Order: sequence, then C-alpha cells, then structure tokens
Amino acid sequence: VSEASFGPLSVPRRVIHGPGPSAVHPRVLSAMAAPLISYRDRDFYRIMGEVSEMLRLVFRTKERTFAVGGAGSAGMEAGLASFLEPGDTVVICSYGHFCERMVLMAERLGVNVVPVRSEWGRPMDPQMLAGALAELPSVKLVTAIHAETSTGVRQPLEPLVELAHEHDALFMADVVTSLAGSEVEVDRWGIDYAYSGSQKCLAVPPGLSPAALREGALQRIRDRRTLPSSWFLDLSLMADYWGPEHRPHYTTAVSLVFALREALALVLEEGLERRWERHRRTAAGLRAGIEAMGLEMIVPPEYRLDQITLVAVPEGVDDAGFRGRLLDDYCMELGGGLGQFRGKVWRIGLMGEQCAPANVLGLLSAFERLLPEHGFDVPVGEGPAAASAEFAKNPPTPF
Ligand SMILES: Cc1ncc(COP(=O)(O)O)c(C=O)c1O
Repeated sequence: VSEASFGPLSVPRRVIHGPGPSAVHPRVLSAMAAPLISYRDRDFYRIMGEVSEMLRLVFRTKERTFAVGGAGSAGMEAGLASFLEPGDTVVICSYGHFCERMVLMAERLGVNVVPVRSEWGRPMDPQMLAGALAELPSVKLVTAIHAETSTGVRQPLEPLVELAHEHDALFMADVVTSLAGSEVEVDRWGIDYAYSGSQKCLAVPPGLSPAALREGALQRIRDRRTLPSSWFLDLSLMADYWGPEHRPHYTTAVSLVFALREALALVLEEGLERRWERHRRTAAGLRAGIEAMGLEMIVPPEYRLDQITLVAVPEGVDDAGFRGRLLDDYCMELGGGLGQFRGKVWRIGLMGEQCAPANVLGLLSAFERLLPEHGFDVPVGEGPAAASAEFAKNPPTPF
C-alpha cells in the first residue's frame, strides 16, 4: 500500500432502520464543523450551560444534567463505578441483552451482583424485584432499562423505583433508547441517576451519554469510603466540571457537545411531547403494515416501544441473507437479533430524524418485494396500504 493510495473518505448512503445510530440532521452535522475552542474556554462553559438547561427539559428534571464522554455504555459504567464500592450489593433487573451487559460490568467491580432475570420480550413483573429485595439485608443500587433495545419492550419504571427507595437503595435507569422518543420523567418517577446515548432518538452521532443526576445521589458518591474504581467515569468529577465551578476533568469532546447542543435545540423546537407523538404515530403505521403483511411482532401491544419494533423472522427465511439483500438492493440497514434472539428477530428502528412515514413506506415496499424471494409470500400492496391508511387517520406531525 502506497502513501498516496487512500484518497478521500468514502462512505456509502444508507437508510438507517436499525437500533442506532440513527440519522443526523444537517444542522447537527454543521454544528460539528464549527471552529474548535478549548473545553476550558468561557464560551464553551456557556454552551455547556445551554446543554445542561436543555437536557433538564428533555430529562424532565430540575437536578444536574451533563454529558458523560463516551457511548451509552459509558453512562452505564459511570453509574455502576460511581455508586458501588467493595462490599456493596447491586440488584440488576434483567430482561434483555443490555441488562446482561450491566451484569457483566458490575461483576468486574468486585461487588455483590444480584441479577433478577425475567423472560425476554415481556416487561418484568415488579413482584420479582420485591421478592429479591426482601431477601437481601442491604442494597445500594437497583438498576433497570426503560427501553430494552434488544427486545423492543418498554419497562414501566415507576414501580421499580418505588421498591428500590423502600429499601433505601438508589435507582439507576437506562434511558438510552427512550429519551426524546417517548416519555421519560426523571423527577416524577424519582430516578436518582439516568443516562442516555446521543445516537438514538436524540439523533446525534455516537460518543456522548447525556445524563441526569440527583443531588442526593451525587452526595452518596462524595460520601463513599473508597474512591470510585474509575477516575474517568467518576460522576462526581463530571458533575464538578459541568457545574458552576468547572473544575477540569478530561478533555471533553467539544465538537460532539456542539452537536448535542444543536440536536437538543431541534428537539425543543419540535416540542418534546410532539416528538413523542411523532414516534407513536409513525410506529403505529409501521405496525399496521407489518401486520397486514402477515408478519408477527413478538411484544404484547401495551409494552411495545415506538422507536424499535421487533418482528419475528418468518419460518424458513434466511435472516442474514434477507438483511444483506435489503442493504444491497435498497441501501437499507435493518437490525438483527441479539443474544437469545439472534437469528430469530428483526429490529426495525424509527428514531429521531429517520422516524418518518416516508421511511416506513419505503421499508414496507422493500419487504414486500424481497420476502417472497426468500420464501415468505406476502399479499401485494397490503402492507404499504395499511400503513398509509393509519397515517391518513393519525398523520404524524411534520418536523
Ligand atoms: C438500552 C441500551 N443500553 C445501552 C446501550 C449501549 O450503548 P452504546 O452502544 O452507545 O454503548 C444500548 C445500545 O444500543 C442500548 O440499546
């Protein structure tokens, strides 16, 4: 390979219908191209202040908000590493692949990890958590995922938070996939620490984990007997950098914070609740189309997420072959199954920018053409027609 052989970057066009990252608005992309300033510049502090204010509106909290440097997993690991010290017990509600990631992370911390496992594709019954808590002498932290991207399930969090607090435990919520796509109420639900991911419904490139932290929970970190095992992911150091004292921590991903700032402005210009409603109505059209084609969704209707829809791979259809053709012929990305759902489900993402009726109609048309070629017959025209009828009844708001 010669030094001259690389040339300019080449990136193909994609219609992203996977579980994230999602498509990004041009205003967000151009915010990233703004000239760099230092992460210790007073004008960067002003922009951080705007980001914090806007995050408070999106997380629905009056408490501290900031962006953890790193992907959603960084927000997850920051919570575990900051709250837990040797000898502590964490109870992890587990009903999917990302819940199990939390278990793996917590096990590395040398703390007592108690997973409470329930069936994938269904929400967890709070009684299971109640039973586990009743048997433990003391629990420091309870964790749960609001929108399990691997199963497409919305887990109601309020009853879990209540149980945690009855046992004097802190509650950490993963709102990676839910934030800005469906209702998240940090203060009303009583969540002590919530983290998200920039690349899902917020529609920012991956690399930040916006988070909300209650003052009382921050104090619990400051009061630890030992320092958190991670310096980089210590939430108290992040809070000090994002707070009024701006005590320096690591070098912040300045351009990504610009992007987040602009994406949050877009969210608020649209209106948070209007944005939830757009996700709800667009997903309703997708589901109508999926059903009309004779495909099956694996989650009961009342617990389905709007931003990610799980469809069972029909009997006899080659999962990877089908997704490959969708990519080859239509430049469309479709998510495959994870963990125990590998090869068994498709995950259709409708997040942020790409959550629009035109994308739903395009995807259903592509399914309609490719499914019969893969051994599953679908009635011609009915999928897109059912989605169109749903959109006519409840038009998703333009954005
Ligand atoms: C619910 C949930 N939590 C955590 C993560 C991890 O986020 P990341 O891949 O940004 O580290 C994901 C990623 O898809 C997720 O869906």
